[in-house]
Amino acid sequence: MNPLLSCRDLSRSFGALKAVDAVDLTVHAGTRHALIGPNGAGKSTLLKLLTGLLRPDSGTVHLGGQDITRLSEVKRSRLGLSQTMQQVSLFPSMTVAENVALAVRRHRGGTISALPARRGPRRHVDRQVDRLLTDAGLRNRDTLPVSALSHGEAKQVELALALACEPRLLLLDEPGAGMSPAESARLTELVLHLPAEITVLFIEHDLDLVFALATEVTVLHLGKVLLTGAPGDIRDDPRVQEAYLGTSRRADLFTTPPPTSGEPRVPTRP
Ligand SMILES: Nc1ncnc2c1ncn2[C@@H]1O[C@H](COP(=O)(O)OP(=O)(O)OP(=O)(O)O)[C@@H](O)[C@H]1O
Ligand SMILES: [Mg+2]
Repeated sequence: MNPLLSCRDLSRSFGALKAVDAVDLTVHAGTRHALIGPNGAGKSTLLKLLTGLLRPDSGTVHLGGQDITRLSEVKRSRLGLSQTMQQVSLFPSMTVAENVALAVRRHRGGTISALPARRGPRRHVDRQVDRLLTDAGLRNRDTLPVSALSHGEAKQVELALALACEPRLLLLDEPGAGMSPAESARLTELVLHLPAEITVLFIEHDLDLVFALATEVTVLHLGKVLLTGAPGDIRDDPRVQEAYLGTSRRADLFTTPPPTSGEPRVPTRP
């Protein structure tokens, strides 16, 4: 498999605390790679080191063979590394389609003026906005102001904004956080069906969701990689269960039985 992103010996401390401790991670092109681990394991810190939001104390990050360790967030984003933006970057009084169009123009380096653009680029932007609204499941929400959306739908707009950067690698930190199970399952489905050329690295606490979505799983514990592998191999590994709960009782971690095949599956939820 083709490594898209890799980090080697990546470390970051906060005072005496080693939040990320000599982490080696490889994300292969086309995969849906889950990063899991108990609270405080260092998952969000690791993601921030990959996006450039935080600087590592030591170690390297490569994207598509290029050393990006010292590059800013903006430069990494131009190379195709994108993360879902915070809700603060949405304009609540503008419609969903207008928010997405702004993100498309911003990515293309255009102005974000409300003045109509010239014909050619405008048509191109419109087409891209249409595609992003479809990919993010917002086709029937495009004319609504963002302020009228549910929390789950606002997250879908954030997904569309991240996709507007035409990412090769999409980084998601708990995309389903704060959502109802139905909203969370919907987002999972959307991410599952993103174009195959977009690779996804995501953090998720809901292990049922992880094993529905992921094609590879890395378990982080106390800042270190505990293990990486196919979901089927990780799911029943007693070390994972110990790391989470100090228990090897499988029923404490999963609400659904293990899949009969090694294939990822979409969860059935009430
Ligand atoms: N800016 C910071 N300053 C000081 N300590 C921090 C900072 N950010 C994270 N930490 C600490 O680093 C450790 C790892 O935090 P991190 O947020 O990466 O964990 P996590 O695996 O994402 O946890 P969670 O599942 O709860 O989101 C924690 O002990 C946390 O308190
Ligand atoms: Mg976190």
